[in-house]
Amino acid sequence: LFAGPVDFLKGVVAMDGLPPADRPEVCFAGRSNVGKSSLINALTGRNHLARASNTPGRTQEVNYFTLGEQAYLVDLPGYGFAKAPVPVVAKWQALLKKYLSGRPTLRRAFALIDSRHGVKDVDHEIMRLLDRAAVPFQVVLTKTDKISRQELEAVVVQVEEALQKHPAAYPELVITSSEKGHGIATLRAIIAGLE
Ligand code: GTP
Ligand code: MG
Repeated sequence: LFAGPVDFLKGVVAMDGLPPADRPEVCFAGRSNVGKSSLINALTGRNHLARASNTPGRTQEVNYFTLGEQAYLVDLPGYGFAKAPVPVVAKWQALLKKYLSGRPTLRRAFALIDSRHGVKDVDHEIMRLLDRAAVPFQVVLTKTDKISRQELEAVVVQVEEALQKHPAAYPELVITSSEKGHGIATLRAIIAGLE
């Protein structure tokens, strides 16, 4: 899927605002601040394409990016704690859940897990939703530049164990650092290999 220039298409706030389901797409889901937008920037080599920030709740819409004419990349709002008014957060959480369980052209969801924190209850909640919707998903460990090799080994074991509960999960994790560029080529190749 990774052919052609990447561009921002639109930010969507309700299901009826989604573009026509006429091509494959992949999305990036995970807790607020896990590094979804930064990962999209690293993948596309465009530093300011998706807005990233240290304030949890930066991305508040379902943001569509075009990958040439062939595919969409989708940056999602985070789940869990966010620095935004409660009703606003509730609205985007509802959209997020509808999107993840009702988008026919969603080929794969990347479930981002912060390598410093491992799998949390809210991650299980989202992964259960993906199981129920039969959306194949793959875990991406983020921010691995912030931990030691031993800590990384431990979190990999924890995540692999946690994934056994989730039939829609791919067993292989992708280990990344958007900051250092680690794992980015691997992830790009995975996306490019999807049809
Ligand atoms: P929301 O849109 O709020 O849900 O957050 P997000 O998941 O899109 O996270 P975002 O990409 O905005 O990153 C959050 C913070 O983590 C920013 O300050 C990033 O610079 C930082 N960050 C993201 N990826 C990495 C990484 O690989 N390494 C390090 N050290 N910091 C990172
Ligand atoms: Mg974001």
